[in-house]
Amino acid sequence: MNIMVFDHATAACTYVAGKLAELAAAGGTVALSGGSTPKLLFKIMGEQFPGANWGNLKFFWGDERMVPAESSESNYGEFYRTAVQKGVIPDKAVFATDYFPDTTLSLKKIEDKIKGNVPFLHGLPQFDLILLGVGEDGHVASIFPDNIHSFSSSDVVEVVSHPVSGQKRITITGSVINNAREVILLCTGAAKKEIIYNILIDKNVNLPATHVATRHGNTEWCMDGAAAQNIKGKTEAAF
Ligand code: 6PG
Repeated sequence: MNIMVFDHATAACTYVAGKLAELAAAGGTVALSGGSTPKLLFKIMGEQFPGANWGNLKFFWGDERMVPAESSESNYGEFYRTAVQKGVIPDKAVFATDYFPDTTLSLKKIEDKIKGNVPFLHGLPQFDLILLGVGEDGHVASIFPDNIHSFSSSDVVEVVSHPVSGQKRITITGSVINNAREVILLCTGAAKKEIIYNILIDKNVNLPATHVATRHGNTEWCMDGAAAQNIKGKTEAAF
């Protein structure tokens, strides 16, 4: 595992965008995180890497909210509006977790999409790169402390509920996360400083993010100074 701390969120996102552009040259499979953090990443992908062969990648999501794509809550919908509609990422590269009122249908369809497009290793899909955000409660994808059992599930994807809103979501499991060739946890902003300390210094096992450690490659934390301020001098990270 390595921990990288950048001066600001733009620098952290530019680094991650460069990793994605590198992967795009060779082609591969990516699971994106949702939420707000990656929106800056998507902007940078278009503005600073216009020559990247983004159509060479297959973009999935580590988790998706069970809402129509038109909703601002939709991870796919937000990506479509900020990257596909603006011509940065071609439609053919996008493998959305489709919303159906019947969530079991959404689950079956995304499981089939993953099985049809992501190579398997040891009986599980192996993404080339999984990008994760980290919630203030230590969740990754939609694996929350309340459903931490999803981290060790041998399933590929599961239907879960947000612990506060009850919103139905589909998430990849921790088994898939830790089967990836590379995992990047992109975490920015002072609001994350406590949870980062609890994960990386306390190593609190009740927090799903603490268990992220891919078995086959590199697990990389990419943060800005604001998110990393409580771990300064407490890890080998270069600030
Ligand atoms: C989601 C995400 C989730 C997110 C974290 C961090 O669908 O919400 O995949 O795991 O990455 O909640 O979200 P922010 O980037 O908004 O802080």
